[in-house]
Amino acid sequence: MLAAKAREVMACCRLLAGFSEESGRTTRTFLSAPMRDVHAHLGSWMERCGLSVHVDNAGNLRGVYPASASDGPRLFIGSHLDTVIDAGAFDGVLGVVMAVALVDLLERRSLPFLIEVVGFSEEEGVRFGVPFIGSRALAGTLDVDLLNRVDTRGRSVEDAIRDYGLDPSCVVNARAGNHALGYLEFHIEQGPVLDDIAAPLGVVRAIVGQSRLTATFAGSANHAGTTPMHARRDAVAGAAEWITAVEALARSTPGLVATVGRILARPGSTNVIAGVCDTSLDVRHASDEARRIAVATLHHTAQQIASRRQLRVEFETHLDQPAVVMSPTLVSTLERALTTQGVPIHRIDSGAGHDAMIMAACMPAAMLFLRSPGGISHHPDETVLEDDVAAALGTGLAFLDDLARSLSHA
Ligand code: GLV
Ligand code: MN
Ligand code: MN
Repeated sequence: MLAAKAREVMACCRLLAGFSEESGRTTRTFLSAPMRDVHAHLGSWMERCGLSVHVDNAGNLRGVYPASASDGPRLFIGSHLDTVIDAGAFDGVLGVVMAVALVDLLERRSLPFLIEVVGFSEEEGVRFGVPFIGSRALAGTLDVDLLNRVDTRGRSVEDAIRDYGLDPSCVVNARAGNHALGYLEFHIEQGPVLDDIAAPLGVVRAIVGQSRLTATFAGSANHAGTTPMHARRDAVAGAAEWITAVEALARSTPGLVATVGRILARPGSTNVIAGVCDTSLDVRHASDEARRIAVATLHHTAQQIASRRQLRVEFETHLDQPAVVMSPTLVSTLERALTTQGVPIHRIDSGAGHDAMIMAACMPAAMLFLRSPGGISHHPDETVLEDDVAAALGTGLAFLDDLARSLSHA
């Protein structure tokens, strides 16, 4: 039964990967047109399993499975439905599809708590440069200023919500109520740790903190053929020097990872020296202090490079998300569940950000990782093993039964 459901889960993820803004590859950003197809497909499966389904005003797909008693507390299970550009089929989506499959496996058996399945609208930060829009709305930590941020076409978050047929003035209504038991998220590991030790599943202990910024180097645009090298104020050359400094700092600082994944040169012509260069920066470390020191060092280095090259540099911070420790109680529940399935317990820290780190601000949160073969993620080759999905579903069922027992004895 678990093997067949695992096959169904994987087939569903691969089918949803076809719902994309771009032909031939998977790209699905906040409330884009293909998100509607994802909502329709998953929503109808959820209804067949006995969930009442709606899309909230932050664009999250939500389905509620009733409890045996009308006043039971609520367990949230979910992950995100948006993707990076040219994504694989499993990051985020797997966690939502597994949540639906888990409820399906209950075969309408009710538990002493409600289960709310959530497919978050936005976790990656691709469209607006700021991640976690969906989970922040549920956690009640969505800064309303965020609604004014614009995408590359000049549409704001508020416009996107309205364009989808939702009401941005009611985003606050997406907030989870008080009677929450906790939040559980299944997710691929997205790294090599479990694969290297041949472990199918891992219990997340903590999620590292992350900073996301844009550094804008400004010089002056001029003719590429006539401007002597000594007279240039080349924004791209300044950014390039800084990018190598970012890599050097991360290589020499234990536990630090730092990435420049996007640069935009303006005006962007072969025969024009760039006057402006926007440069993204993503910095992560398990220690918030070490991460903030690294960001301050990189600010300082950018200023030094800019002043030597007669450039200006400005920073805009999009995210300063502290590291988050998962709920010890739910971690223990997951570990007992793994033991019932005969799966060895491996604790792991997550270098990737997850909706669970946002949900942890308002309820106990836990995550179960599935091994990523080859450690590949944010890439079309990202995958997961069917046996691992079956083991995670079995663990999920044991987790639900354990929670049900502990509530009945309370
Ligand atoms: C989310 O995928 C992240 O960037 O960690
Ligand atoms: Mn993810
Ligand atoms: Mn991701």
